[in-house]
Amino acid sequence: MPRNRIIEDLNPPPRLLMGSGPVDVDPRVSRVMSMPMLGQFDPAFTEYMNEVMALYREIFQTENRWTFLVDGTARAGIEAIMVSIIEPGDTVLVPIFGRFGHLQAEIAGRCGAKVETIETEWGTVFSPDQIEDAVKKTAPKLVATCQGDTSTTMAQPLAEIGEICRNNGTLLYVDATASLVGMDLPVDAWKIDAVSVGLQKCLSGPPGVAPITFNDRIEEVVLKRKHIEEGIRPPGFKNGSGPRIASNYFDLPMLMDYWSEARLNHHTEATSMLYAAHECARIVLQCGLQESLDRHALASEAMVAGLQAMNLQIFGDLEHKMPNITGVYIPDGVNGDRVRADLLNDFGIEIGTSFGPLHGKIWRIGTMGYNCRKRNVLICLTALEATLRQNGMTPPASAGVEVAIAVYRKAGQ
Ligand SMILES: Cc1ncc(COP(=O)(O)O)c(C=O)c1O
Repeated sequence: MPRNRIIEDLNPPPRLLMGSGPVDVDPRVSRVMSMPMLGQFDPAFTEYMNEVMALYREIFQTENRWTFLVDGTARAGIEAIMVSIIEPGDTVLVPIFGRFGHLQAEIAGRCGAKVETIETEWGTVFSPDQIEDAVKKTAPKLVATCQGDTSTTMAQPLAEIGEICRNNGTLLYVDATASLVGMDLPVDAWKIDAVSVGLQKCLSGPPGVAPITFNDRIEEVVLKRKHIEEGIRPPGFKNGSGPRIASNYFDLPMLMDYWSEARLNHHTEATSMLYAAHECARIVLQCGLQESLDRHALASEAMVAGLQAMNLQIFGDLEHKMPNITGVYIPDGVNGDRVRADLLNDFGIEIGTSFGPLHGKIWRIGTMGYNCRKRNVLICLTALEATLRQNGMTPPASAGVEVAIAVYRKAGQ
């Protein structure tokens, strides 16, 4: 770029984000993000911090005291939980059913874990028995898995996994980034010890902060490793007996001191992201968590029915498909990248590509959060039909959109 050139104002093109996330941010969230800065120990701000903790306890359906935000995208939450729990040499079991399982295994490896994995073909999930067998065989300190893996659009059933882990003296961590409030996740009822998410999917916010929750079983493990940095260490504080956590930024015990009455200085909380997280949770809870789950389930039904009526084939085990994202095979003879480009250029609609073994084989269409609504499902199906016609396929005229309308009509909409 030549020096002294005046750079134009940012003016992002209007888009409808129907991919795997991020999705369009709810305007209520954009509004609160422009609100004034507050000092991080201003009583008004610490009150907002407390409110965020309370709001996310409801969202996670938990009584966990330790429910707060880690600054950074969703993987900041994954890293904070893993690096704080895993000591070098600990065994960690990761049931992998897509790209984000590989990510957990990779992060566990960086933490020095002895990583054990079981893998299932992309498009399938594990039975509880398969996970139980692996837990018994490997005796891990921690089982780490995803609820929904956007790379495959599959959702791992979790209701029984917490109990399996408890019976075998193992901790359970779940990455629910892609599924929370799109799928039910009663954290306490399902005995899940730690969960992390991001804002940019069903919570309708921008990427940049990771709400997490964990229980007293995790608290006990991480407090043994508590070391407070020099310069803020209170007089008389004694370090924990365990090895120091290898990250300062993601050190859960120090974050716990920051988010509790101790209010011990750590990082500068990402003020605008906290406002965003606060509003994202309020939006869900004002309508009701169940309403959010129902809306995602209905959109999935309409999207699947519409795509099938266009003679497209849905990817993967339908019984375990995430309701907020749908994988669809790219028809033979159709150039998948070209269709995505045409949708973007002609309609301003983004749908998702895919990676790993699915690259070039499927598109992934998201119906998440603020974008999960009837009109977007219908617009997307209509645009996709027109685009397929431009690209050498002739789906039955209007069949997709009409079937989707019928699904919504049946539901009284
Ligand atoms: C299941 C899951 N985990 C983790 C991530 C990573 O999130 P981020 O890119 O915000 O770090 C994603 C993003 O798509 C995801 O779907």
